Amino acid sequence: MDAFQNREILIGVTGGIAAYKTADLTSKLVQAGASVTVAMTEAAKKFIGATTFEALTNRPVYQDLFEPVEHPQGEHIGLARRADLYLIAPATANFLANAAHGHAPILYRRSC
Ligand SMILES: Cc1cc2nc3c(=O)[nH]c(=O)nc-3n(C[C@H](O)[C@H](O)[C@H](O)COP(=O)(O)O)c2cc1C
Repeated sequence: MDAFQNREILIGVTGGIAAYKTADLTSKLVQAGASVTVAMTEAAKKFIGATTFEALTNRPVYQDLFEPVEHPQGEHIGLARRADLYLIAPATANFLANAAHGHAPILYRRSC
């Protein structure tokens, strides 16, 4: 787990029944010394609350492209520049289908 020490990791949470597993993954990465930022899709928020991830990461959770917290041109720029690694695990079939076809709207919505 030393590989995660001082790494900047961006985690995307998608709206499947296994979204709770992302909370466990987030917790383990933080314990391993990583700095973790979380972004959620609208569907993800139906399965698990942003408060859980805020508590686990001690950071705000990104939920809306059009309400940037850090980067004036949108978090999809700032977060992507900062991250050493972008994880979406588990990912919904919907996300995988969009990513496979290079569709960005879903990625934008989760601000990454
Ligand atoms: C109860 C319930 C469980 C779901 N579980 C899954 C799942 O395990 N995997 C999956 O790919 N989609 C699942 N879905 C469907 C996704 O929520 C749906 O495709 C949604 O649009 C995904 O949005 P997102 O990819 O933007 O997060 C589930 C939906 C519901 C209502």
